[in-house]
Amino acid sequence: MAEPYSHRNLLSIKNLTKRYGALTAVDDVSLEIRPGEIFALLGVNGAGKTTMIGCITGLISRFEGEIRIAGYDVRKDYRIARQLVGLVPQELNFDGFFPTAETLRYQGGYFGHRANRARADELLETFSLTEKADANTRKLSGGMKRRLMVCKSLMHSPALLFLDEPTAGVDVDLRENLWNYIRKLRDSGTTIVLTTHYLEEAENLADRIGIINRGRLLRVDSRDELMRLFGRRWIEVRLSGPVPSGLMDRLDDFQPETPAPDRLRITFSEPAHHGSCDEAPVKRLMREIQRAGLEMETLEGGRNRLEDIFREVVHSDA
Ligand SMILES: Nc1ncnc2c1ncn2[C@@H]1O[C@H](COP(=O)(O)OP(=O)(O)O)[C@@H](O)[C@H]1O
Ligand SMILES: [Mg+2]
Repeated sequence: MAEPYSHRNLLSIKNLTKRYGALTAVDDVSLEIRPGEIFALLGVNGAGKTTMIGCITGLISRFEGEIRIAGYDVRKDYRIARQLVGLVPQELNFDGFFPTAETLRYQGGYFGHRANRARADELLETFSLTEKADANTRKLSGGMKRRLMVCKSLMHSPALLFLDEPTAGVDVDLRENLWNYIRKLRDSGTTIVLTTHYLEEAENLADRIGIINRGRLLRVDSRDELMRLFGRRWIEVRLSGPVPSGLMDRLDDFQPETPAPDRLRITFSEPAHHGSCDEAPVKRLMREIQRAGLEMETLEGGRNRLEDIFREVVHSDA
């Protein structure tokens, strides 16, 4: 029997396991999604993200464990549960020879004909596709196609929307544009779970981030907490001579390393504030190099990649 929605979680996953023969694609995952949040499921290809979404949205019905949406069991109460979720899949899911607006109107029989039309028009407007309403969908740009997929998933006004790798293969400008639409959607009351293998995407969009690897949900943190714990920048310089040990000692609080005798690398935490760049470690490094009577030949820098964070997360879990 359906249980009334009496708790604070919109989605509740308990001990979800999905096996394909000997392969465990999702391994004992438990997770709660709160109403109104953007949650990012972050993991490399093959981590189990799409499989997990498939179990939640009803595409996969054979799994171990329990999944409830607003209290409704996705298998026992699937009719209600499915009304509550929308899915934007990884691949394009519409016919290129159909006009944009028609594509939406034909999506599902959730409303009467007139209501369908009004909802389609409203979504086209929200996602800046009104101009293309009568164009065949194959004429849309990549970014517009993605937005149309989002519109399609929203026709029945789901409370919880899944976006499976919404910006994979989308160029950087369009990515930012899509992020803005996703934020707008959340601001209008839709709870969002997205999967991504871009750390940058999770960092920019998500309130909370779950890291999944080999089917296991390794940890769930708020975005700020994750970046505080694992977000690191590094600078590596090549010097005019070998790195003296005194220099290493003086830079002790920056975890100095020498990848080669004349190379020095320091690592430090991300600045607390997004976007602003804390120059202190660079200045400190320059001063100490000068003080050691050396010159800097080359300088490069970067930040931790997803893979680095995984390594640290797996390490800290062990
Ligand atoms: N239908 C299937 N049959 C067998 N193995 C599958 C099937 N779907 C996914 N897998 C495997 O399950 C693992 C997780 O895949 P997937 O959920 O697609 O990962 P992700 O979406 O994170 O890239 C991968 O090893 C993949 O090869
Ligand atoms: Mg996938």
